[in-house]
Amino acid sequence: MAGLHKSFGGVRAVEDVSFEVAAGEMLALIGPNGAGKSTCFNMLNGQIRPDGGSIRLAGHDITGQKPRRVARQGVGRTFQITATFASMTVRENVQVALLAHHRRIWRFLRPAGGEFRAEAEALLERLDLLPQAERAAGILAYGDLKRLELAVALAGAPRLLLMDEPTAGMAPAERVALMRLARTLATGTGLAILFTEHDMDVVFGSADRILVLNRGVLIAAGNADTIRADPGVREVYLGSGVTTGGH
Ligand SMILES: Nc1ncnc2c1ncn2[C@@H]1O[C@H](COP(=O)(O)OP(=O)(O)O)[C@@H](O)[C@H]1O
Ligand SMILES: [Mg+2]
Repeated sequence: MAGLHKSFGGVRAVEDVSFEVAAGEMLALIGPNGAGKSTCFNMLNGQIRPDGGSIRLAGHDITGQKPRRVARQGVGRTFQITATFASMTVRENVQVALLAHHRRIWRFLRPAGGEFRAEAEALLERLDLLPQAERAAGILAYGDLKRLELAVALAGAPRLLLMDEPTAGMAPAERVALMRLARTLATGTGLAILFTEHDMDVVFGSADRILVLNRGVLIAAGNADTIRADPGVREVYLGSGVTTGGH
C-alpha cells in the first residue's frame, strides 16, 4: 500500500502510510490503541475505502474494491469465532469454506457431501487438526478453534493473510504454537502474513519485520532489534516497556 490516507470526520486515522509485505514474510503492525491499525486492515481488505493512496496486490491495483472481490484476488483474513459453524464438524467447516471459495454456494445446503473432502483433510493435516476432523466445531478447545479459523481462511487460497490479534485470549504456550504454525505456512507456501498484536513477546518472537503506527503515522519499520532500539518507539511505549520480557 502506498500513501494511504483515511479520515473519520476530523480524525486523521491513517496518514500517508506506505509499506509492502513480501511473499513468505510475517509482518507485524503495532501501535497504541487508536493508532490506525484496524483502519489499515479494513482498507486492505476493502471494508473501508481510502481517501487517498493505492493498494496493490501482486502488481494489480485493488484500491477501493469491495471486500468480496478483494478476497477473490487473494486477501484473506482470520475472523472471530462467528466465522465457523458450531454444529458442523471441523472438516465440514473447511469444506464449506472451500465450496464458498469455488463459488458453489448452493452446496451449503448439504455440506457433508464428499466434495473437497480430500482438500479439506489435507488442510486440516497442515494445521495439525486432522485428529479433530469429525468433532463439532462448537466443542473445540480455544486453541483448536483458532487453528480452525486459520484453516477456514486458508481455504480461500490467499496470497496475503490479515490476522487481527490472532493470539488474543490464548495461553502463552498456545500463542507460541500458533505463531510457529503461521511461520511454517508462510515459509512453506509463500503466503504473506500481516498481523496486529498486543503481546510484544509474540511480536518480537515471530515477525520478520515490524511496523509501528502512532496517531495514524508510521513512525518506525524494521526488524526486532531496530524497533527495540528506536527512540521514537520507546517514547510511544514509555511505561509499557518495549522489551521481549514483558508488556
Ligand atoms: N468508523 C469510524 N468512525 C469514526 N472514527 C473511527 C472509525 N474507525 C476508527 N476511527 C478512529 O480512527 C482512529 C484509528 O482507529 P483504529 O484504526 O481502530 O486504531 P487501532 O486499531 O490501532 O486501535 C481512532 O482515533 C478511532 O477512534
Ligand atoms: Mg484495532
